[in-house]
Amino acid sequence: MGKSFVVVGTDTGVGKTIVSAGLLFSYRVAGMEAGIQKWISTGDISGFSQDVDFILNVAGISRNFFPGISDRHLNPFSFIYPASPHYSSKMHRKRIDLSEIKSLFQEYASLMDILIVEGVGGVLVPLTQKVLLIDVIKDLDLPVLLVVKNTLGAINHSLLTIHVLRSRDIKILGLVFNDGFSCSIDIKKDNIKTISRLGKITVLGQIPFMEDIRDYKVVFDGIRKGIDQRL
Ligand SMILES: Nc1ncnc2c1ncn2[C@@H]1O[C@H](COP(=O)(O)OP(=O)(O)OP(=O)(O)O)[C@@H](O)[C@H]1O
Ligand SMILES: [Mg+2]
Repeated sequence: MGKSFVVVGTDTGVGKTIVSAGLLFSYRVAGMEAGIQKWISTGDISGFSQDVDFILNVAGISRNFFPGISDRHLNPFSFIYPASPHYSSKMHRKRIDLSEIKSLFQEYASLMDILIVEGVGGVLVPLTQKVLLIDVIKDLDLPVLLVVKNTLGAINHSLLTIHVLRSRDIKILGLVFNDGFSCSIDIKKDNIKTISRLGKITVLGQIPFMEDIRDYKVVFDGIRKGIDQRL
C-alpha cells in the first residue's frame, strides 16, 4: 500500500485543484508513481471531473496512465448539477455509494507510491444526507493538507477547519497559503503569522498567482518535501 493524503480547503474555490496539480507534477517528475483521485465532483457536464482532467494535464499524464486504473478510480462519482454532493445526488436521483468510494480508494492507493485525493468543498460538506467529507477521511484514517485562501476571513476559516480536524484526531500535515486572490499584502502576511501562531501549525508553503503551474515546480517541490517528512 502506498501513501495517501487528502488536499482539503477552508472552503470551495480556494485552490485545492491548483495545489493538487502542482504536487502531482512534482511527485511524478521526482520519479514517483503518483495518482490523483476526486471522490465526488459536481458541476461537470461531461460526466467526469474537470478538476481531475486539469490535474492530469498539468502532470502530463492521461486518464489511462496506469494499467488497471479506470475513470471510475480517478473520479467515482460525477454530477452535472453544481451543488454540494448530497444535493446534486438528490437532484439526479443517483445514490452516492460510500463503500464503493472506499474500495476504489484502497484499490487505487495499493497500486501507487502516492495517491493524492482532492477534497470536495470544505471538510464539513455533506457527501450524503448523513455523512460528511470529514467522516470519510476519518474512516480511511487519512492525513490532510489544508489549503488556505489567503484573503480577509482566512483566520476564522482556517482556525475553524483546524479545530474540527483536531477534534476528530485527523492528522494535519500542514498548511499551504494560496496568494492567488486579491488582498492587501499586509493582511496576507499577518494571516500567515496569526494562523500558524494561534493554530500551532506548520506552514509548508505559499503559492502566488500562477499563469502556468509548472513554472512553480520549485515551490511545489518544497511543499512535497514537507509532506514527505510528515507522512
Ligand atoms: N494561485 C493561483 N493562481 C492562479 N489561479 C488560481 C490560483 N488559485 C486559484 N486559482 C483559480 O481560482 C479558481 C479556484 O481554484 P481551484 O479550482 O483550485 O479551487 P478548488 O478549491 O479546487 O475548488 P473546488 O471546491 O470547486 O474543487 C480556479 O479557476 C483557479 O484556476
Ligand atoms: Mg477543485
